[in-house]
Amino acid sequence: MPANLIKRDVITALAARAAGLDQPEGNARLKQVVNRLLVDLMVAIDELDISMDEFWCGIAYLTQAGKQNEFGLIVPGVVLEHFLDLRLDEAEQRAGLAGGTARTIEGPLYIAGAPMSKGEARLDDGTDDGEVLFMEGQVRDVSGKPIAGAIVDVWHANTMGNYSHFDPTQTAFNLRRRIETDAEGRYRFRSIMPSGYACPSGSQTEKLLGAIGRHGNRPAHVHFFVSASGYRKLTTQINIDGDKYLHDDFAFGTRGELIPRVERVADAGEIHKFGLNKPFARIRFDFSMTKEVAGAPATIVTREHAEAA
Ligand code: BEZ
Ligand code: FE
Repeated sequence: MPANLIKRDVITALAARAAGLDQPEGNARLKQVVNRLLVDLMVAIDELDISMDEFWCGIAYLTQAGKQNEFGLIVPGVVLEHFLDLRLDEAEQRAGLAGGTARTIEGPLYIAGAPMSKGEARLDDGTDDGEVLFMEGQVRDVSGKPIAGAIVDVWHANTMGNYSHFDPTQTAFNLRRRIETDAEGRYRFRSIMPSGYACPSGSQTEKLLGAIGRHGNRPAHVHFFVSASGYRKLTTQINIDGDKYLHDDFAFGTRGELIPRVERVADAGEIHKFGLNKPFARIRFDFSMTKEVAGAPATIVTREHAEAA
C-alpha cells in the first residue's frame, strides 16, 4: 500500500472520538493523553505504511510482554526510563535546583522493606564466594554539611548478575539493605562485587533488542535510594569501573559522575585488618542531597514494585 493514505483531519476526528473528547464524563487528563497517543500512532501507521501483519505482530509482542511482566524491562531498554530522568534534570535546572548527586534510573528490580540497620550493614548472606566489596561514604547537603539519619536504601545483583526475590536461589533480601547514616552522615557496608545484569534469554525484551541489532547487558552497578527529611529523594546507581559494558548499558543508566574509583586491596596487613583472608575491593562514594522546595517537580515516584514475600 502507499503511505499517507488518510487525511490528517480524518485521523484527528477519529482520535478525538476514540479518546472520548466529545463526552462530558471521564478523566480530562487521560482523554488528553489517549487522544495524543492515538493521533501519533495513526500518523505513524499511515506514514510508515505499517502493514496489517506488522501491526498484529506488534500487538502479539506486547500481549506476550504483558503476560511475562516485562514492561519494566522494555521501558529502560528503549531509553524511556532514562528520558524521564533527563526531563526531571531539566525541570530541576529550570527551577533553580542545581547540584546534588546525579540521578539515574531505578530499573525494575527494587523490593521495598529491606532490613534496616544503623551506620553499617552486611548485605550478602555469605553464600556467594565473590570478591568482597567494602563501600562507604557520607551523605551531605550541597554545602557539604553531613546529614545524620538519612536512609541509604541499597540493592544490587550477585556475581551472576541476578537479584534476590527475582532469583529464587537467593535468600530473602540478599544484597538489599537500608542503612541509616550515623551522626556524621556516614554509611558503610560489606558485600560482594556484583556482576552486570543481562536480560533473561528468551525474554520478549531480549527478542526485541536482538531484532534491532542490540544486546541486553548492563555493566555491574549498585543501586541507591537516598532519603532524608527536608531533602529531595535521590534515585541513583554507581557503576563498577572497568566493566565491559560501562559505556554500553542497554538501559542507558551510566553517567560519568557515577563511576567511582575501585581500589583493589592486596596488602596483607589491610586484609587482616578487615577480618579477611583474601584481597578485596573498596569504594568510597559520597551522596550530595538537594533541599526540598515547594512546587519543585517530585522525585518521589509512585511506581508498582514486586512485593516481598
Ligand atoms: C537493573 O537495574 O539491573 C536493570 C535496569 C533496567 C532494566 C533491567 C535491569
Ligand atoms: Fe540493577
